[in-house]
Amino acid sequence: GAPVEVNVGKIQPGQLIRAEWRGKPVYVVRRTEKTVNDLAKHDDQLRDPNSEKAQQPAYATNAYRSIKPEFLVALGVCTHLGCAPTHHGGDFAEFVEGVPNGFYCPCHGSKFDMAGRVFQGVPAPLNLVVPEHSFTSDDILLIG
Ligand code: FES
Repeated sequence: GAPVEVNVGKIQPGQLIRAEWRGKPVYVVRRTEKTVNDLAKHDDQLRDPNSEKAQQPAYATNAYRSIKPEFLVALGVCTHLGCAPTHHGGDFAEFVEGVPNGFYCPCHGSKFDMAGRVFQGVPAPLNLVVPEHSFTSDDILLIG
């Protein structure tokens, strides 16, 4: 499939927008500075904090799993059986103690942080997939 272009310039901090690439949903989130800073605080609760087993491009193998820390680009496909995780703000604390936001899969309760990293003790085995992506300008994201 052809790469998909997404204008990220108007995404508000904390907002998620959905794109579609090769028939799959892609989540693009503009993380707030606090969210970016919080990512380092719960590594001990994660199954694969350094994304050693995760499917992601080499350039996204970093603490944010992304090119620019503020933008997460990940498939909106649970690595358990493929449901669409939902994005939670403040109420994510109800699902994961001490972690203010993340993704929750309604099918069997898997939980992921704001870098798409899976928490321990849930059915999903792997972090969310980060697809190939690049920025052709400050605001234009190319997925694929
Ligand atoms: Fe997401 Fe099973 S499909 S937890």
